[in-house]
Amino acid sequence: MKSPFRLFGPAIFLMAALLAAFSATPSFAAGPGPAWVELGADGAPIVRTAVGDGQPCPSLSVRLRLRSRHHLPMSLRAPSASGASFDISVCEARLPRSARQVWLAGVRLPLPPRTMRRLVVIGDTGCRLKASANGGVFQACNDPNDYPFAQVAKAAAAWKPDLVIHVGDYLYRESPCPAGNTGCAGSPSGDRWASWRADFFDPAAPLLRTAALVAARGNHEDCARAGSGYRRLLDIAALSPSTDCHDPANRLDGDTSAPFAVPLGHDTQLVVFDSAAAGNKPLAADDPLMVRLQATYAAITSLSAKAGHTILVDHHPWLAYAAGTSKSGQPTLYGGNAALISAFASKSPALAPPSADMILSGHVHVFEAVSFKTDLPVQIVAGFSGTDEDKVPLPTSPPMDLDPAPGAKVDQLASWIDGFGFLTLTRTGAAHWRMEVRDRFGKPLQTCQIIGRRLACTPDRIAAHSD
Ligand SMILES: [Fe+2]
Repeated sequence: MKSPFRLFGPAIFLMAALLAAFSATPSFAAGPGPAWVELGADGAPIVRTAVGDGQPCPSLSVRLRLRSRHHLPMSLRAPSASGASFDISVCEARLPRSARQVWLAGVRLPLPPRTMRRLVVIGDTGCRLKASANGGVFQACNDPNDYPFAQVAKAAAAWKPDLVIHVGDYLYRESPCPAGNTGCAGSPSGDRWASWRADFFDPAAPLLRTAALVAARGNHEDCARAGSGYRRLLDIAALSPSTDCHDPANRLDGDTSAPFAVPLGHDTQLVVFDSAAAGNKPLAADDPLMVRLQATYAAITSLSAKAGHTILVDHHPWLAYAAGTSKSGQPTLYGGNAALISAFASKSPALAPPSADMILSGHVHVFEAVSFKTDLPVQIVAGFSGTDEDKVPLPTSPPMDLDPAPGAKVDQLASWIDGFGFLTLTRTGAAHWRMEVRDRFGKPLQTCQIIGRRLACTPDRIAAHSD
């Protein structure tokens, strides 16, 4: 006679698995949902959380310097939307700089230290679900080997950063998973809360519990794609009808934002700007976007003058390479970003403010670091944290026939192609950072020293598929 376990064991296992699956995705109608701390203008911390439809915003418990705890009510940032797209409300509280500790529902949230020396950089983290005339691309969101952002976030949290920088492109689940595709079966899609939760807030949870976030905006978050969700959830500015991406007449306002600075301590800062609408074509002088990006350049120049050392943060690299395949099937190398270069060069031939030592970007789905013989910042690309990777190799040495920008002569070029991971940056001197390129489990593969505008990586290239 078979034992009861042999008869019912598989069913019990299945029920346990189902219960685990459901408990991992609670409706949180009875309490707060994901909570995170973002840094806004001048590094001021903003606490946000999502609550179930109809739930009131909770209160925080905050301890200020030399003071006892007090309650700080969160205010409603974005009410739940009619229909099913955003069936949650977003609540927020802007903390005074004197805040030292903060709790939500008994859980302590991470506030940044006054001096931030340990930075994690991630980018391009969503699971690509995109239909097209030739079938499209459907990453296996359910398979951590194919879509490893949760592993990346867990490993990055274990490194215990002072701050997490996301260089943009959070939401890639644009098209419904095709029937019968088990790799992505059950995934939500479109710019709605369920997609944002699956693509960012759930996998990023360990990281968001560990450190505050600086969130740059990607082209996946422009108004034509997930801009509405970005404005609700991640934008640091107040939600406004002129910028919330709802009215197509406000598209230009919706697609652009004011840059902001985040002090890291000791005469060093981040300057973050919105390049979501940049595209990749040079802009005409009378293009309204040209005027906006010229204003962006003026603003980042002004902000950059407030510290001796600045790290620029945006989504589109303008001093890096991307490799792809031409229509005839030939490997093709591209350089720079024509839209940003046209706007920035019209303001200054230097293409970056004088205090900018480094640019942190994403968009290209690789790790890449570029430095120059000419006087330009080191360009870093960290678009390798979850979205399907670019697989055409970058050159092993600086190409002689293609500069990323006019006159930008490349000195060092380091890369890692077709591997998932994240960057860690540790500040070791006034303008000195040690950068480690890590795989999805946190193992360091390359170490780069960045001193001012100089770069040296060892080794300068990692073989493909080494993760
Ligand atoms: Fe992008």
